[in-house]
Amino acid sequence: MDQIVSLCKRRGFLFQSSEIYGGIQGFWDYGPLGVELKRNLKEAWWHDMISGHNELVAPANAPGPFEMVGLDCTIIMHPQVWKCSGHYDLFHDHMVDCRESKKRYRFDQVRGRWVEYADRSQKIFVSTLADIETELDEVRRRAMKFFRLRNKDADKISISNESLTIDRLDSTKEVLAPDAKNLDTLTEPREFNLMFKTTLGALGGENDATFLRPETAQGIFVNFKNVLDSSRVKLPFGIGQVGKSFRNEITPRNFTFRSREFEQMEIEFFCHPDQSQVWYKYWRDRRMAWYTKLGLSSESLIMREHHQEELAHYSVGTADIEYAFPFLPEGEYGELEGIAHRGDFDLRSHMEGKLNPATRPMEVELGENGKAKYRGSGRDLTYRDEVTNEKFVPHVVEPSAGADRGVLAFLCEAYSEDKAPDEKGKMQTRTVMKLHPRLAPIKAAVFPLVKKDGMPEIAREIYGELKKHMNVFYDEKGAVGRRYRRQDEAGTPYCVTVDTESLNDKTVTIRDRDTLEQWRVKIDDVVTDLTSRIQ
Ligand code: GAP
Repeated sequence: MDQIVSLCKRRGFLFQSSEIYGGIQGFWDYGPLGVELKRNLKEAWWHDMISGHNELVAPANAPGPFEMVGLDCTIIMHPQVWKCSGHYDLFHDHMVDCRESKKRYRFDQVRGRWVEYADRSQKIFVSTLADIETELDEVRRRAMKFFRLRNKDADKISISNESLTIDRLDSTKEVLAPDAKNLDTLTEPREFNLMFKTTLGALGGENDATFLRPETAQGIFVNFKNVLDSSRVKLPFGIGQVGKSFRNEITPRNFTFRSREFEQMEIEFFCHPDQSQVWYKYWRDRRMAWYTKLGLSSESLIMREHHQEELAHYSVGTADIEYAFPFLPEGEYGELEGIAHRGDFDLRSHMEGKLNPATRPMEVELGENGKAKYRGSGRDLTYRDEVTNEKFVPHVVEPSAGADRGVLAFLCEAYSEDKAPDEKGKMQTRTVMKLHPRLAPIKAAVFPLVKKDGMPEIAREIYGELKKHMNVFYDEKGAVGRRYRRQDEAGTPYCVTVDTESLNDKTVTIRDRDTLEQWRVKIDDVVTDLTSRIQ
């Protein structure tokens, strides 16, 4: 993971936000290569899910044909949206405070190990926020310090093999908190709402308080009727949206995996309640296939169905697509996308008032005065089937993906090291980002072999032609072998080289990043050749 993080910074994929001021935790900036990669991922999603969808035929394995449309709504919405969606009351994490260091941690994210010091017959749980690779060393260092042991006495303590999060312990009495010198400094876990609060207008009273959206989904639900009336779509249909979401994560960590500002790519798919289970299965499998088609290996991906007790308040079924991110312990996976069956919770809550998720069938949650705790919009969000005349509240299947987590997974998957000959034919280790051509920030690089004999002129002309069709890079500086290496690290799938032969027969060499295979193509055919390869 360290190598990936360092390459991301060195080559301009990702930078820490506000780095010159020491950075700000949980916020990341995409550099010149990163922005292209992220845009390509979002565009691939938008094309494959929304704009490229053919509603006239049923896609493979779909229960039938369906329509897909897009939406782009605001980040700040009416505060009632978050009351009816359940986020105001229920969107929280459990956190613990350390009475000694005054730091706050997410209860389920502080990891550690049991350490036993036989001479004192004492067993303590040493916790740390260190990465999984350095966790054991960090636990040992802290335990030695706690027991006041010197390096030569290291074998007097024994450390358990199992790494645990503190929420799995019966009590935190024996815990040495990540920044504490004493045991038992953590408070009982408390709830902490993850929404960023902000204020509308200049007066700034509590009535003007609202939130930055923690998910893009709610903007789709509150526009359901607008979309239905304006585009005349018929059930089943989906509305997709890509945009920023904000969550005040207590312990943002693992590079961009858990950020406070991130982008989501969400679909709310509306269907008849009787059909919702088959559509849920369809979307679950289709979304999994999307990741493998773009290059994530099926060995590193799993589909995990949630247990009943894990389900979100609105869900009757959820599956997560998870990826074996390299910062996780062996055998653990991190969520890339959730596919949730949300039933009619959202549309009914926005219509009638927030539903009580504990009731079956769900009823509006009542306040102390016996009226709805959070009033709905009162708008009719039902659907009338024109053929059967049946009126009902559609059920929703929601494939909800994170663009930043997607980028991170593709970066981790792409990173590889192999051997390739340098310009003297000597085998050298090379770092190569094996990104799918659709995702690659730069599709091709154009080089004149040397900076003379008319080669730069031809190369520039080819570059100009290619630029009209794709993102390409021109480089004439330094040895050609070094130019190849730089493009390998950037994930550029093809390099076009103008050489001596080009002057005679008007052909160029094209080199494949992964196989290192080279072939010659007529200059006039370069655009067609590369266009067909980067689809
Ligand atoms: N509308 C449902 C919803 O938002 P979620 O599982 O909370 O569900 C969906 O989020 C996806 O958004 C996740 O699978 C993940 O890819 C991304 N995501 C959520 N929180 C994130 C965070 N703090 N940083 C980066 N991505 C995040």
